[in-house]
Amino acid sequence: MSISKLASSIKESPTLALNEKARLLRVKGEPVIHLGGGEPKNKAPITAVLGSAAKLRAGDIKYAPTDGLPSLKKAIIRYTEENYGRLPSPDNVIVSTGAKQSIYNLLFSLVDPQDEVILLAPYWVSYPEMVRMVYGIPVVVTPEDGTFQPRLEEIEESVSSYTKVIIINSPNNPSGMAYTDSFIADIVDFAERKGIYLIFDDIYHRLTFDGIHPKPAYEFTDKDIENTRVIVVNGISKLYGLTGFRIGWTVANKRLVEVMTIIQSQVTSCPSVVSQAAAEGALTGMQNVVDNLRLTIQNNRDVMLQELKTFSDVTVRKPNGTFYCLPDFRAYSKNSLELAKFLLDKALVVTVPGVDFGMEGYLRLSYCGSVKEITVGVERLKWALDPNAPNEIYIGDRKLIRDWL
Ligand SMILES: Cc1ncc(COP(=O)(O)O)c(C=O)c1O
Repeated sequence: MSISKLASSIKESPTLALNEKARLLRVKGEPVIHLGGGEPKNKAPITAVLGSAAKLRAGDIKYAPTDGLPSLKKAIIRYTEENYGRLPSPDNVIVSTGAKQSIYNLLFSLVDPQDEVILLAPYWVSYPEMVRMVYGIPVVVTPEDGTFQPRLEEIEESVSSYTKVIIINSPNNPSGMAYTDSFIADIVDFAERKGIYLIFDDIYHRLTFDGIHPKPAYEFTDKDIENTRVIVVNGISKLYGLTGFRIGWTVANKRLVEVMTIIQSQVTSCPSVVSQAAAEGALTGMQNVVDNLRLTIQNNRDVMLQELKTFSDVTVRKPNGTFYCLPDFRAYSKNSLELAKFLLDKALVVTVPGVDFGMEGYLRLSYCGSVKEITVGVERLKWALDPNAPNEIYIGDRKLIRDWL
């Protein structure tokens, strides 16, 4: 079979591949613990369920405007005003099938072949592949000081005349780090001066801990939505735990939204109306669901850090947002893919190799599951790797003895 060179060069999403592997093991009855996931366990907010159910009951499930139902766009405009202090017009908003599609549409609309897109390591796994899918070149900037907090100077050194876009994801998947306001101020100022587009992937923006509330990027520019290089992507997947509805959106200047709408019209026509009704329900319903989720996840983060503290030779930076942390496992293996495979084989724990996020030797561990999954999961990891941990463990009803250390 003759598959295109481009398609054959694109890697599968490692997280989705791991989800599938874990699912198949569970189907076989294996007591797998999933520390690789990217979705919380909460029940869908009732207002989202009722919104989509009303749509279904009405039996009016047809094509909708490509850029989104007007009533959902209205809710997004209100959300943007409340959370970002800016009032977009409906022409500044396009709804897509998940933030993933929003980002892909943006890159498709902005990047010419050979244009460069700057990604800050650790970066979300899908960015480099999406950049390649539009024939662009991903340029990765890795903070030299070993922190997950980039510095403007490092980015400046990587900017060339081909740099078209910089993608910022804060709080960050996979590190859990929210960048400082001063870094965001610097990068916005830099991008406005240089005419480089800044895509803010804000999918976790309200999932921050310990009372921190990073300022939105718009606060650092006096340009309006029509003239700024700041573009904001958001969605319902993470904040409301509604990953399955697949709704995300973009706030950008009208011309860009118009072009994205044309692209979307040729690819998916429009996002599902049932899902859009759910998103409207989530955005207009009680917002304490987000606070409750945030508090649960913050508690899970604390449990995860507590468990990792007693893991010999593993260091971790305290995340201040998202569902993830990115501990350094280089003392055990320099090859994170091999290590993740070993841990799944021996301890039946799913982790995500850091190499996929541009951080070889690290593993991404999620704490969006239950407290039990976190404690038992880390206990198993210790059993498999840490010579100071007991060498016997029960996994399901099997007693296992570590004989490889
Ligand atoms: C940083 C980041 N951006 C975007 C997405 C995609 O979100 P959605 O489910 O809305 O497509 C994810 C999902 O894992 C993510 O982690």
